[in-house]
Amino acid sequence: MIPIAEPKLNGNELKYVTDCVSSGWISSIGKYIKKFEEEFSKFTETKYGIATSSGTTALHLALATFGIGKDDEVIIPTLSFIATANCVAYTGAKPVFVDSEPRTWNMDPEKVKEKITEKTKAIVPVHLYGHPVDMDPIMDLAEDHSLVVIEDAAEAHGAEYRKRKVGGIGHVGCFSFYGNKIITCGEGGMITTNDEEIMNKAMMLRDHAMSKEKRYWHPYMGYNYRMTNMQAAVGLAQVEKIEEYIQIKRENAKKYNEKLEGISNITLPPEMDWAKNVYWLYSILVDNIQRDDFTFRLREKEIDTRPFFYPMHTQPPYIDYSDEKLEVAEDIAKRGVSLPSATSLKDHEIDYICQIIAETLS
Ligand SMILES: Cc1ncc(COP(=O)(O)O)c(C=O)c1O
Repeated sequence: MIPIAEPKLNGNELKYVTDCVSSGWISSIGKYIKKFEEEFSKFTETKYGIATSSGTTALHLALATFGIGKDDEVIIPTLSFIATANCVAYTGAKPVFVDSEPRTWNMDPEKVKEKITEKTKAIVPVHLYGHPVDMDPIMDLAEDHSLVVIEDAAEAHGAEYRKRKVGGIGHVGCFSFYGNKIITCGEGGMITTNDEEIMNKAMMLRDHAMSKEKRYWHPYMGYNYRMTNMQAAVGLAQVEKIEEYIQIKRENAKKYNEKLEGISNITLPPEMDWAKNVYWLYSILVDNIQRDDFTFRLREKEIDTRPFFYPMHTQPPYIDYSDEKLEVAEDIAKRGVSLPSATSLKDHEIDYICQIIAETLS
């Protein structure tokens, strides 16, 4: 089976992890955590990085750091991985779902505007599958209504919006380093920000909100969302390779585009003229065939795929929030398929996948 994603661990991962084990620094204190935070925040062109145990805990911690909770509303795209909505719900706030923009599949800034109420506290744009959200209108709305912008960049390490890296455009960015992400540390996440006060508060809440001055004194309710030195050791080795991985992903996307563009009934992944897509998962829309028949036929030929996320407003935990139809997202979700996107993907495998797709759709 040609896998959808696969970590590549051929740099300093083993050396750094061995150092953790042989020195005994395997828990959440150690030099690799700081180094990983420094190197990853430098990569995202932000001043500070706060490493966490996952992308989910990074998002929850970010929302908690801004004091978002009961009676608040947070605007999010309906087309995202469920963690985006869950993290809002964990705080006690209400996720308010927004439809997608047909060209980028991301949250539609025009529709965000319609959802702002007196209760709205934050907007969480999600850079889906590696393509950035159109951020300028979102930032303008946030400024006009005094809202916080938390970028969910879990899937978009290194993506650029008007030459600016995602994760450094909103007030904070949140990343995931799960095993299928552009870089991984097994499980892990990071908040990035330029705001020193936010960094200090997030660092404190990440560690049970323990006072720096008075041990075992907790001025707030905090969490244990720390990353271990061993995770950070892997993460650091991965950041050392991130530019190479992104380049491979972009080259593979170009090869897919060239082979697929002549085939009818396919929409290729977007790359707007203001965007750098990092193609976390190279994803297409298919027409004139049931998506699940399409993926079944690829699977028969040993090609792994993933369907798009089900829009979150249609999922059991959130179905009662509203009976609104979010038609663009619902349509994209039904037709969307992610194709094998590992950095280890070979040219002959791309040729083979495209040939099978052509046969399947002819
Ligand atoms: C858009 C988005 N947000 C958040 C997350 C959560 O990250 P994690 O799995 O590291 O908790 C993911 C994970 O895949 C994601 O795709």
